[in-house]
Amino acid sequence: MDNLFDLSGKTVLVTGSSRGIGKQIALQMALQGANVVISSRKAEACDRAAAEIAAQVSGSNGGSVTAIPGHIGFKDQLEDLVAQTNERVGEIDVLVCNAAVNPYYGPMAEISDSAFEKVLDCNIKSNHWLCQLVLPQMVKRNEGVIIMMSSIGGLYGHSTLGTYSLSKAADMQLARNIAIEYGPHNIRANAIAPGLIKTDFSKALWENEDALRATADTIALRRIGTPEEIAGAAVFLASAAGSYMTGQTLVIDGGMMGL
Ligand SMILES: NC(=O)c1ccc[n+]([C@@H]2O[C@H](COP(=O)([O-])OP(=O)(O)OC[C@H]3O[C@@H](n4cnc5c(N)ncnc54)[C@H](OP(=O)(O)O)[C@@H]3O)[C@@H](O)[C@H]2O)c1
Repeated sequence: MDNLFDLSGKTVLVTGSSRGIGKQIALQMALQGANVVISSRKAEACDRAAAEIAAQVSGSNGGSVTAIPGHIGFKDQLEDLVAQTNERVGEIDVLVCNAAVNPYYGPMAEISDSAFEKVLDCNIKSNHWLCQLVLPQMVKRNEGVIIMMSSIGGLYGHSTLGTYSLSKAADMQLARNIAIEYGPHNIRANAIAPGLIKTDFSKALWENEDALRATADTIALRRIGTPEEIAGAAVFLASAAGSYMTGQTLVIDGGMMGL
């Protein structure tokens, strides 16, 4: 194969892809020829992101871009998302479980039951459901890739992001379990654990100049990351370049973990 990163003709579903990391993953995969599905809760945001990506891809040998909204917290909406993807684009080759929520910042002792359940439902159960919905079509074709968007938060204890980090640790384990259960079907599953990336999700951690500088001082590269710097790893994991990698978690944090 000439281009190990080629994704021509692959159907890729990326949850939470109307902005941030998911949008960049969709763009970079489309630039590699994939037919991507943009999804998030808001239909308008999906349409806007899909139009932007289509414009950036046009003129290259890029793939198609389709917007299909859906809330990851509801099983019927995930069923509809997969069914519509199959109908309008094709059977899913690459599933990127990227969308997640974090409604609470503070000690775990004080988190409400509803916030705790929301984090577990949206960050773990939704990914489990999506995989249950998509894996049978991958098994049928004896090929498939699943990518879980985790976080370095899932690798260590945290005083204010405990429940979110718990859910992100579970996402790494979901990838490991799928890798073991479905490896014999030529299906690979890996997780990506980003450090601090400049998106709306993490705005509270970077919008204040002083706080940003203090955080940057704890990172080997002395800066926070960008969505593009995560998207390349997703292309690697989805493509032939990553074909012998499964069950792993790729840490991409500019050297934050080691300091
Ligand atoms: N940014 C960081 O520093 C960082 C670090 C480590 C890990 N991560 C992980 O990276 C992933 C993406 O985060 P991001 O920083 O790119 O966030 P972001 O810029 O806020 O984007 C989040 C995306 O998810 C969608 N979304 C939110 N809730 C949803 C729901 N219930 N159902 C479906 N879609 C939903 C949003 O669109 P709508 O509002 O239209 O739904 C949006 O498209 C998350 O899993 C996050 O935990 C981020």
